[in-house]
Amino acid sequence: MFKIAVLASGGGSNLQAIIDAIECGKLHCSIECVICDNEQAYALTRAREHGIPAVVLDRKVLGKSMSDEVLKLLKGKVDLIVLAGFLSILKGELIKEFSNRIMNIHPSLIPSFCGMGAYGIRVHEMAVEYGVKVSGCTVHFVDEGTDTGAIIIQKTVEVLPEDTAKELQARVLEKEHQALPEAIRLVSEGKVTVKNRKVFINE
Ligand code: GRF
Repeated sequence: MFKIAVLASGGGSNLQAIIDAIECGKLHCSIECVICDNEQAYALTRAREHGIPAVVLDRKVLGKSMSDEVLKLLKGKVDLIVLAGFLSILKGELIKEFSNRIMNIHPSLIPSFCGMGAYGIRVHEMAVEYGVKVSGCTVHFVDEGTDTGAIIIQKTVEVLPEDTAKELQARVLEKEHQALPEAIRLVSEGKVTVKNRKVFINE
């Protein structure tokens, strides 16, 4: 069985989408553990309700050693790390050890509205303020940069001139819940290869 870990900081609706895809048989993998960087994250409750081991690595306590602690927990234990709304930045040895085996979901069409400071509702405020006609979500591999890794899947939504950031966020989130389980499925079935930052999908 293909083994994954899911890292989250907040509500965990993307974690829930992965759990649902597994439970309804669309995704054949097992979530070995959920890691949250704060004990308030509702993602922890979602994990526990589904019998998934849940661990808190407190960002305030660990600071810069977060990546090393994640590596200690997951090295040799999982095939893929999924960042589903995980706000701590990962770097160093962890990124090397899990090269092309960490994926992240971002709620815009990268390279728009991404990078340092672009997270949460801010991403959608930027899109609405700019007046773009389409936005969406991006699932990408994680490298040393912020939102700079090779793109696996993007899904688009229409942006209306009268949209609020909250309305856009809700529309994008629906697409995220499709995109993330789909990207995990593709990787878990060995259908993804990366060459020169291009992702080839062999369905
Ligand atoms: C999502 O919008 C995701 O793209 C971003 O953080 C949010 C997490 O939402 N990285 P949730 O915790 O999965 O509901």
